[in-house]
Amino acid sequence: MDASEVAVLRDAALAAFAGAEDVATLEQARIDHLGRRSPLGEAQRGLGALDDEERRRVGALLNGLRMEVTEAFDRRHGELDAIELGRRLERERRDLTGPARRVRPGRPHLLTQVEEEIVDVFVGMGFSVAEGPEVESGRFNFDLLNIPPDHPARGTMDTIYVDEDADVVLRTHTSPVQVRTMLTHEPPIAVVCPGRVYRADSVDATHSPVFTQVEGLLVAEGVSMAHLRGTLLAFARALFGDDREVRLRPSFFPFTEPSAEVDVSFDSASGWLEILGSGMVDPAVLSACGIDPERYTGFAFGIGVERVAMLRHGVADIRDLYDADARFLAAF
Ligand code: PHE
Repeated sequence: MDASEVAVLRDAALAAFAGAEDVATLEQARIDHLGRRSPLGEAQRGLGALDDEERRRVGALLNGLRMEVTEAFDRRHGELDAIELGRRLERERRDLTGPARRVRPGRPHLLTQVEEEIVDVFVGMGFSVAEGPEVESGRFNFDLLNIPPDHPARGTMDTIYVDEDADVVLRTHTSPVQVRTMLTHEPPIAVVCPGRVYRADSVDATHSPVFTQVEGLLVAEGVSMAHLRGTLLAFARALFGDDREVRLRPSFFPFTEPSAEVDVSFDSASGWLEILGSGMVDPAVLSACGIDPERYTGFAFGIGVERVAMLRHGVADIRDLYDADARFLAAF
């Protein structure tokens, strides 16, 4: 082995490194030119067979060659790493100077807002919130509320019978939640029951087969119709304004006696507008729910959330509340 042979090996290795365009190719070139099986590797392993003087001479040549080629390899490796990094940075580049994508914050649906407002007014008066299933037993939805199977009130509260034999219905009001509360709690009881209810109504500007109620129940000793009127007056003023009056008109519900529709005064153009039904809990309902009607009395009321939302916000058509048109909903 002499200097010119060494130069051939060196030129071959440097050319291979320079030609490698990626790290994997470069690594193969390293194996070919610096590895154990490379001409250089073989030559260095063959040194042992040479005599002392020759071994020192050739060994020095080969060591010099290995150092030079290794340096060239390291340099090229560094270059390729830098190129690769540059490519990656380019690939993962984010243009932070462009206009930001605008994320509109969501907000509760108008019905949710109004339901929460109504509930808040009663929570402020000391009521707690009770919720129950939308798929209810007929016993809780009708029977215990003094609406026997052949009672005409069932007609106005027609609903979907999920399973008629098993007496399972989509609830027609949230009154069954009040039944559940009376069955499990001792008076004094003060609850409001918000939720979705179902009736076989056809859709028009003021009717929907699915709507939302907040019903309320107060049962304690000495509760009178004056408490009912005072509570509802406070509610009407909290929601519609301090100058409002309420008016109770005699009405009928199977579960209250006496019963009253409640009107709220609006402007002179609108006059009195009906916003809810109410009454003193019928003693038969108290008994059926395990409460002694000789000792306790109570009042109950049922508010239609859609109606309140429409009156408060001037919504003319109930269907607007269900259409999920973001432009309409964004107005509230
Ligand atoms: N449950 C009645 C309804 O949905 C509303 C109501 C509740 C009326 C309580 C009086 C007392 O129509």
